[in-house]
Amino acid sequence: MRVDGIKTHDVAGIGFGPSNLSLAIALDELDTASDRPAVDAAFFEKQAALGWHRGMLLPGANMQISFLKDLVTFRNPASPYSFVSYLHTVGRLAAFANRTEFFPSRREFHDYLEWVEAQFTKYVTYSSEVVSVQPVRSENGFLDKLQLEVREGATGATRTVHARNVVVSTGLVPKMPEGFERGEGVWHSSEFLTRFQVADPERLRSVAVLGAGQSAAEVVRHLYDNLPDADVYAILSPVGYSIADATPLANQVFDPDAVDDYYFSSEEAKDAVWRYHKNTNYSVVDDELIRDLYERRYADEVVRRNRLRFLNLSRALTVENHGPRTRVAVQSLRTGETDQLDVDLLVCATGYLPVDPTTLLGEAAGLCLRDERGRVRVERDYRLVTDPELKARIYLQGGTEHTHGLSAALLSNMAARNGEIANSIVQGLAGPASDTDGKAAL
Ligand code: FDA
Repeated sequence: MRVDGIKTHDVAGIGFGPSNLSLAIALDELDTASDRPAVDAAFFEKQAALGWHRGMLLPGANMQISFLKDLVTFRNPASPYSFVSYLHTVGRLAAFANRTEFFPSRREFHDYLEWVEAQFTKYVTYSSEVVSVQPVRSENGFLDKLQLEVREGATGATRTVHARNVVVSTGLVPKMPEGFERGEGVWHSSEFLTRFQVADPERLRSVAVLGAGQSAAEVVRHLYDNLPDADVYAILSPVGYSIADATPLANQVFDPDAVDDYYFSSEEAKDAVWRYHKNTNYSVVDDELIRDLYERRYADEVVRRNRLRFLNLSRALTVENHGPRTRVAVQSLRTGETDQLDVDLLVCATGYLPVDPTTLLGEAAGLCLRDERGRVRVERDYRLVTDPELKARIYLQGGTEHTHGLSAALLSNMAARNGEIANSIVQGLAGPASDTDGKAAL
């Protein structure tokens, strides 16, 4: 529908990473299964093309979830957009099965995402960053639409669209240590491969990686393997990397049913789940990778060429340009003493921050209700709880860890989550009588 020349969509999605791609499929499959008019959905993505953590598509890096946790299977195992369908189409089904390996490489998963995305391009506009969302009052007096300002990358021009439902899936934001600026000799791991591919390896004789999580360990291995003449320093606070708990009983925390368990638990129980199971995903490293790094260092010791150095129980305090090099002040947690480490490159694998969804929401943020700890309140169907005056709906993918648990920003529960969001949107569009707060069967 167009009012005053402004198009009103049923759904506007902000971001077109795996989460909103999965939503586009869920909406499309609901349309196909019904004789009502199709939902008019439009997604806006600031990148020029689909790109899932391109800076970390390192050769040899694997997914940390089973191939069955793809964009669709946990919602609809018969979907034509599953990882198995992809393998079948590209002619690798038998070859994949022969590997007897549940975890595809990150590169193969990216290829799968691109294969699906190519079938959903009609829904998405690239190079389009949503810079603000504001509530709009209709002639009937209700705030039943949201207005999105979309900035186009190529021209910088902005355009306006309206939507009855907005789904915010903007992902995580790279986090640098306080006071550390990115630059020629200081990178964040999220941009690692993109920059490494165009860097001059001759210039990288001494490199350091800060951090103790999966990305840090992967970057250390990549630098060690690809810069055979370089010294590689790993700066980490613990004695060694902590192992990721991938055992089956703990892994149940990512099951679709675990969302209900978490959502309807007391705050004490929620805190306990985080305490016990944070090590399934956060600041931890795969067993195989830890052993791999240890073996490399040991092999070096045998030939008396120690070029992989673990500066453990250490933290980086400051970083500064020192001529063409980067000087890092590294403090030992053991002695309290600080040494200067001069390197050609420091990679900060220091993680990501959850996005505060309300930063985009402008005046609508003031209509979002909050809990006693100041966090946004979220319905079970991932819809923000707002002042009743706001009839338009805002859904979150990510930013709901406090209400929906550990899988909120991850791929693990993405297919089931998007079934729930798509159902809620469709029921909301059909009117209050059929709206069951997204608790209907998929
Ligand atoms: P994602 O961040 O992928 O996508 C968000 C999109 O929104 C981006 O394309 C961004 O450009 C766009 N965007 C942001 N702001 C915008 C705006 N204002 N307007 C328009 N577009 C905007 N999880 C897991 O379960 N298993 C795994 O194996 C991994 N592996 C993994 C590896 C690495 C290196 C990282 C950093 C993370 C993981 N993760 C993971 C976790 C990760 O959060 C998850 O893989 C997905 O990226 C989540 O998908 P989303 O679509 O929600 O966010």
